[in-house]
Amino acid sequence: MKIRAAVLEEFGQPLAIRDVDLAEPRAGEVLVRLVACGVCHTDLYTASGADPTGYAPAVLGHEGAGVVEKVGDGVTLVRPGDHVVTLFAPECGECVHCADPRTNRCTAIRDHQNAGYLPDGTTRLSLDGEPLRHFMGTSTFAEYTVMPEIALARIDKAAPLEGASIFACGLSTGLGAAMYTSKVESGATVAVFGCGLVGLGAVAGARIQGAGRIIAIDLADVRLQSARHHGATDLVRVVADAPGGGEARDGADGALETSDPVAWIKAQTGGFGVDHTFEATGSVAVMGQAVEAAREAWGVATMIGVAGKGETLDIVPRLLITGRRVTGSSFGGVKGRSQVPHLVDLWLRGDVDVPAMLSHRITLDEVNHGFDLMHHQDGIRSIIDFA
Ligand SMILES: NC(=O)c1ccc[n+]([C@@H]2O[C@H](COP(=O)([O-])OP(=O)(O)OC[C@H]3O[C@@H](n4cnc5c(N)ncnc54)[C@H](O)[C@@H]3O)[C@@H](O)[C@H]2O)c1
Ligand SMILES: [Zn+2]
Ligand SMILES: [Zn+2]
Repeated sequence: MKIRAAVLEEFGQPLAIRDVDLAEPRAGEVLVRLVACGVCHTDLYTASGADPTGYAPAVLGHEGAGVVEKVGDGVTLVRPGDHVVTLFAPECGECVHCADPRTNRCTAIRDHQNAGYLPDGTTRLSLDGEPLRHFMGTSTFAEYTVMPEIALARIDKAAPLEGASIFACGLSTGLGAAMYTSKVESGATVAVFGCGLVGLGAVAGARIQGAGRIIAIDLADVRLQSARHHGATDLVRVVADAPGGGEARDGADGALETSDPVAWIKAQTGGFGVDHTFEATGSVAVMGQAVEAAREAWGVATMIGVAGKGETLDIVPRLLITGRRVTGSSFGGVKGRSQVPHLVDLWLRGDVDVPAMLSHRITLDEVNHGFDLMHHQDGIRSIIDFA
């Protein structure tokens, strides 16, 4: 079939909206009609050419939600009419990692997926007879996509697909980091560095877990106000010329301003630090702050942000010897097929305000504008509406 799709033809150039050919789903594969798709940093990162593992030409997009149109031979996990969230992190249910509750790092189709192919090593996408690769195994900047059945989470049809799309990446990543990776306890103290969609998800996840105090740290007042809406109890804006040394001054709308968020967090917690910290900016300097702000003896620091190519995180070993633990989280540790439906149910139950996280509706033709909005931090998430 002919579909419209946003194609990365050349790194560093705007995506091109093209009429692309999409072949029928083969065994184990599913044709999905996209209804909505979020525009995420990883799409921009790859389009810019900064991602050393990127490939082109490819159809980008990975934060998709839609409806199953058709299934290939042997498909049992979904059927036509099902509402699904696309998973760049699949769940085969059988590999050594799927069998273990500690991780979501399914190994089933990883090699082909990382190279831009479906599990049989070929593509269903082509342009003028030349194959196009499948970005992250999803390629959801398109009216339709073909994906492996193990990479689709079947969700409650009561969930509007526009909101469901952000469970395909950013929101689940933040929620899961708090709920599944760090396992925030009732009454715990928490600090979240960076309050974009991922950090807001961590704030909401910590609140759902019953955290006692949730400190949100960002550079931007508007992001901090969003963090309060989703459950932050303390808002800390980092300003270079504000007081440091554990001190802060009053800022706008109930936020505090400090030049040194780590010293402020320590001063607030008897010199110890907080039980759980989350890094959701992608800056290695902030990752270091998240490690230092984690409590001596049992604090856990979870790295979620994606650092730049070649960057490393330096940690003074004494911080670890004295009991802090440092971990990372890919897709929030969420096992996609089994746990994304549960996260969506939390929204339907009223535990997460998903509409408040959707800022701009754009058309597929406006996808490059979506990148511009993200670049300027205009809104939390832009959503492509395929209607
Ligand atoms: N691990 C995963 O599976 C996964 C999944 C999705 C996204 N990510 C990554 O998570 C990160 C966050 O994604 P997002 O969509 O929320 O991004 P975003 O750009 O919308 O939000 C980042 C926030 O960090 C704030 N910030 C920047 N510098 C800061 C500093 N020095 N101190 C405090 N706050 C600061 C910004 O003001 C912004 O509000 C990105 O690096 C993204 O690539 C990781
Ligand atoms: Zn698996
Ligand atoms: Zn993403």
